[in-house]
Amino acid sequence: MIAFNNVGKSFDDERTWAVRDLSLDVPEGHTTVLLGSSGSGKSTTLKMVNRLVELSAGKIEVDGRDVQAQNIVMLRRSIGYVFQHVGLFAHMSVEENVAIGLSLRGEPPTPRRRRAEELLDLVGLPPASFARRYPGQLSGGQEQRVAVARALATDPKYLLMDEPFGALDEITRQSLQETLKDLRDRLGKTILFVTHDLFEALALGDRIAVLHEGRIEQVGDGDELLRRPATPFVAQLFERPARLLSGKRGHD
Ligand SMILES: Nc1ncnc2c1ncn2[C@@H]1O[C@H](COP(=O)(O)OP(=O)(O)O)[C@@H](O)[C@H]1O
Ligand SMILES: [Mg+2]
Repeated sequence: MIAFNNVGKSFDDERTWAVRDLSLDVPEGHTTVLLGSSGSGKSTTLKMVNRLVELSAGKIEVDGRDVQAQNIVMLRRSIGYVFQHVGLFAHMSVEENVAIGLSLRGEPPTPRRRRAEELLDLVGLPPASFARRYPGQLSGGQEQRVAVARALATDPKYLLMDEPFGALDEITRQSLQETLKDLRDRLGKTILFVTHDLFEALALGDRIAVLHEGRIEQVGDGDELLRRPATPFVAQLFERPARLLSGKRGHD
């Protein structure tokens, strides 16, 4: 489990806080979504887990161990990270991109290749047609699939995903959301997923934490947030899907 305990981050010597007093449990085998508008502190929260950003207050534990007390390399090895601008290596084939973490770990070519093929299959890219392509020969959605496969290569228990499908069209995005749900179910990964998109949060989140100006407004499953919003902000945010849902029910 990932546990945030009263976590805060200030980038300006505690004059303003990008994240304040954030407490949240990210239970194993589920997808927890951080939902909030731009600037609400989502990326900062995520990056404090793998220490791309160092926290200013509170404590984050991964499997009961304080991240501040852990070796950064070991910590990052246990956590896969996928973000919007994937940064695949252009001069490396898809297969080499997927296996980069394994190469760094010194695994020999044959098992590396086998693992890359297995992962490409898993994310819906048949290796026979994709393994030897280069990133320039992929669509945006295919690139994100490679990024997901790459994050999974070393079999991390946790996946941090920062608006990974943000730049994709709606249909491609839905298809990747389905793939991700499938991965959660088949591999039992624990996923912390950041999005500003309400419908994406509802589609993916077993639990959703609504962030607003660096604070958590409410944590709950989609149903709870829709039916029992705890704050005016959450009520307003979920007004449209709530209306769509009750409209649908009206026609049944
Ligand atoms: N490296 C940084 N230096 C200074 N301020 C930052 C830095 N990163 C983020 N911030 C500020 O922290 C706040 C939250 O940013 P961020 O976590 O990126 O939000 P989100 O991902 O929800 O859009 C914003 O006000 C942003 O300007
Ligand atoms: Mg962000």
